[in-house]
Amino acid sequence: MDGAVSGGSADGLSRLRIAFCHGVPMMALSFATDVLPMFRQVDIDHMKPMGVLLDDYDYMSNAENDHQNAQSVSDSLTGKNKPQMPPGGPYWTPEQLAKYAQWMADGYQP
Ligand code: HEM
Repeated sequence: MDGAVSGGSADGLSRLRIAFCHGVPMMALSFATDVLPMFRQVDIDHMKPMGVLLDDYDYMSNAENDHQNAQSVSDSLTGKNKPQMPPGGPYWTPEQLAKYAQWMADGYQP
C-alpha cells in the first residue's frame, strides 16, 4: 500500500478513497458487483416484507443514523445481533463478511 488520495468535496466524491498498491489503484468494492451477489434470492424475498431491502442500494447505503441499515445487516450476518442471519445458516464465511465490511469501509459505493 503506497498511499491514498481523496476526491473533491463539492461534487460529492469526497468519500471515494482510492488506495494504491505498487502504483496500481485498488478499486473500491461496489454494491452491485461485490455485495448484492452474496445475497440469495430467498434472502431478498424473505427480508423484503420485514422492510429490510437487501437488494435496494438506496436502502443499503442510506446514510441516516450513521448508516444504520448497512450496520444492522452486518450485525445480523456476523451474529452480533440475534438471530444470526440467514436463520439456521449457511452463515457467511469470513471472506464474505470481510468483503461486506470492506464495502462499508470503502464508503458504500454503488
Ligand atoms: C437488519 C437485518 C436483519 C434483521 C433484523 C432480520 C430479521 C429477521 C427475522 C426476525 C426473521 C424471522 C424470524 C426467523 O425466521 O428467525 C428473518 C427471517 C429471514 N432472514 Fe433475516 N434479518 C436481517 C437480515 C438478513 C440477512 C442479511 C439475510 C441473508 C443474508 C437474511 C435472511 C433471512 C431469511 C432467509 C429468512 C427466512 C427464514 C425462514 O423463514 O426460513 N436476513 N430475518
